Amino acid sequence: MKLLSLLAAPLLVSASPLVAQRQAADSLDKLFKAVGKIYFGNIAEQGKIETGKNGAILKQNFGQVTPEYSMKWETTEPSRNSFNFDPSDYVVDWAVANGKSIRGHALIWHMALPSWVSSITDKNDLTSVIENHITTVVGRWKGKIRAWDVCNEIFNDDGTMRESVFSSVLGEEFVGIAFRAARAADPSAKLYINDYNLDHAEWSKLPAVVKKVKEWKAQGIPIDGIGSQTHLQSGMSGALETALRQLTTAGVEVAVTELDITGASPNDYKVAVQACYHVPECVGVTVWGIRDTDSWQASTAPLLFDDNYDPKPAYQAIADYLKSPN
Ligand code: G3I
Repeated sequence: MKLLSLLAAPLLVSASPLVAQRQAADSLDKLFKAVGKIYFGNIAEQGKIETGKNGAILKQNFGQVTPEYSMKWETTEPSRNSFNFDPSDYVVDWAVANGKSIRGHALIWHMALPSWVSSITDKNDLTSVIENHITTVVGRWKGKIRAWDVCNEIFNDDGTMRESVFSSVLGEEFVGIAFRAARAADPSAKLYINDYNLDHAEWSKLPAVVKKVKEWKAQGIPIDGIGSQTHLQSGMSGALETALRQLTTAGVEVAVTELDITGASPNDYKVAVQACYHVPECVGVTVWGIRDTDSWQASTAPLLFDDNYDPKPAYQAIADYLKSPN
């Protein structure tokens, strides 16, 4: 018996390095796909992927990535017609190599915008700048990006259009210019309007977004989806399901695109994921960060992993729910 156990030992030792150390008991992406959804994702950038266990956690537990900032205008086209794709290429190459779906974020946004764009005052000039930017950026990864946030945060909370260089110079025309350029550059990508405070149907923004998207689609503007960023305060996930259902009445798919919840209570996260599960047109959930310490809202401990890269109770609550969803 002793000899056998000694003989067996080398095999056992040699086997262990081949199995990547699991970062959590279950993969949320595998569980979400098993109940018919397309992905359960997170955000990524080279710096994060190469830090600590982030890469392993993304590989093992998530099936989609959104670049947190490297696809934004200030990074991709810092000066006119001079493009920098190094950081975003890293994320796309990593995602493709690891079989992850990709959400492109964000083509038109009033933030992370270089001053050479925000200082444009001529309609024709801004139109050609938008068309050139989107054609170049979207065309670069043609066929590799499942969905693009073409217009990000273009509405005020009262439902009116946000004041930006885009709306000031072009009125609402910038929406059609952007979406048509994106469709032409990559017909395979789903094209989204993405915004926050779309997680409560009773708030003014949601019905205004639905009305506008219906109107724009009727004009032939190719809008395929609405992203609800879903940055939630504690105890506020209960309204999400109704909100997602309302968003689908615009005739689009929906996604939870930037989920984080103050305090990360297990029930809050379960209810948020259940909301997407219950709405057939909801294709997936993206959590906006891995560890609390890396969150844009770090002080509120809103994410699924603690600073030691260990899954928090909310992670397991989602996994337990998805194993027998109701
Ligand atoms: O990479 C540079 C670094 O080289 C430089 O030294 C440093 C200091 O200026 O800045 C670094 O870039 C920062 C980047 O995050 C990486 O940390 C930018 O300044 C900073 O503005 C950027 O913040 C991002 C922010 O969007 C603006 O792009 C956050 O990471 C990101 O979480 C946040 O995400 C947004 C979504 O895109 C839209 N919805 C809201 C959400 C939270 O604000």
